Amino acid sequence: MTPSDVKATLSFSDGSPSMDLPLYKGNIGPDVIDIRKLYGQTGKFTYDPGFLSTASCNSTITYIDGDKGELLYRGYPIEQLAKNCDFLETCHLLLYGDLPDAAQRVDFTARVSNHTMVHEQMQFFLRGFRRDAHPMAIMTGLVGALSAFYHDSTDINNPEHREIAAIRLIAKMPTLVAMAYKYTCGQPYMYPKNKLSYSANFMQMMFANPCEEYVQNDVLVRAMDRIFILHADHEQNASTSTVRLCGSSGTNPFAAIAAGVACLWGPAHGGANEACLNMLGDIQKMGGVEKIGEFIKQVKDKNSNVKLMGFGHRVYKNYDPRATLMRETCHEVLGALGLHDDPLFKLAMALEKIALEDDYFVSRKLYPNVDFYSGIVQRAIGIPVPLFTAVFALARTVGWIAQLNEMIGDPEYKIGRPRQLYVGAAQRNVLPIAQR
Ligand code: CMC
Repeated sequence: MTPSDVKATLSFSDGSPSMDLPLYKGNIGPDVIDIRKLYGQTGKFTYDPGFLSTASCNSTITYIDGDKGELLYRGYPIEQLAKNCDFLETCHLLLYGDLPDAAQRVDFTARVSNHTMVHEQMQFFLRGFRRDAHPMAIMTGLVGALSAFYHDSTDINNPEHREIAAIRLIAKMPTLVAMAYKYTCGQPYMYPKNKLSYSANFMQMMFANPCEEYVQNDVLVRAMDRIFILHADHEQNASTSTVRLCGSSGTNPFAAIAAGVACLWGPAHGGANEACLNMLGDIQKMGGVEKIGEFIKQVKDKNSNVKLMGFGHRVYKNYDPRATLMRETCHEVLGALGLHDDPLFKLAMALEKIALEDDYFVSRKLYPNVDFYSGIVQRAIGIPVPLFTAVFALARTVGWIAQLNEMIGDPEYKIGRPRQLYVGAAQRNVLPIAQR
């Protein structure tokens, strides 16, 4: 962190001594005020529910400029990565800091491919779930359970353990997501085929069956790969912060990533892709494009609790660049499948247009986010709606691991332990039950 010449001065209106606070400059983006000594010197905490103004760490991995609508992984714009790289190259970039050269690419692909199978016992663990279990319930269990299967990579303080756990997690997530799907629809699990690309292998495990030859569609494989790239990391979002906080206690990497999966499930975060498609389905049932006005009215009504899913973002106050790329992929996929007239896609485009012209959304800078179009692409590929967030978790795993490993390697890292403003009862005495 580069110290700035500028200092922030905190003064109090009650005459308490003021305090100088150091400032640090990022390479790009806002400076930060270092408040670590604040409590020691003033006996006061800062108050920032939801981390609206708090940087919880320093990081070299991902940068977002929410006003410009810019997303960089290790300095590379997401548009360039989505157009010129594949998901495993992106994983290498996020994990190790740079894109692989040709030899590194071969080596990294071979290392990941070597770990795509899961322990055979895992299928019996899976059998404990009801067939109608939500895939994210299954994934939370399966990812956490990996720590019970791979005892040789659970020491978060051992760099070799962290490396092998990282490769195992990236390699096994597609296998687990596909197993969760096959289990819920009662089809046999398909073993990974390591000669296929990462995304083609996932498609094969999802959609092949032992009775027929499965023919890959290159447009769909590329779309799947793009979904993975666009979801691979997004700096200190809720699930990533959860992974960091969980890992800061020294727990094993599989447990920390399972915590991330659990957090991602929520509809305000990764669950938005499922919620968005369900919302489009509901509007369709109401009467489609004609009923958008009625739906938007409900969204604006503060008492309705209805949100326009796939719209809005804590950081982006402009179009989410991932949404632009996802929209492009949506056109490609629907074109390749002859679904140009897909009613949900048409509805999504009409809804987007109306919302972007509506003062409610314009004044609050609410724009479509990645989830607005990713559900339509996933549905066209054939992924069932309840599995959407599990696909997001698969893709985000590399980001979670890169962030977790960065934290463990940071000499300034400590167990995460936020403080609070206590507004409950002051000390009081327990009365005998007859007097309460
Ligand atoms: N529909 C209607 N109103 C909204 C929406 C929305 N989708 N998002 C924000 N608002 C309103 C909100 O009610 C508030 O209005 P007011 O100022 O009148 O009280 C204002 O906009 C500011 O919103 P906020 O709740 O303070 O914003 P936040 O940063 O706390 O929430 C968010 C961000 C993503 C949780 C929220 O925009 C949301 O719930 N969006 C829908 C869910 C969604 O699409 N999530 C996916 C995010 S992208 C994928 C990912 O990274 O996980």
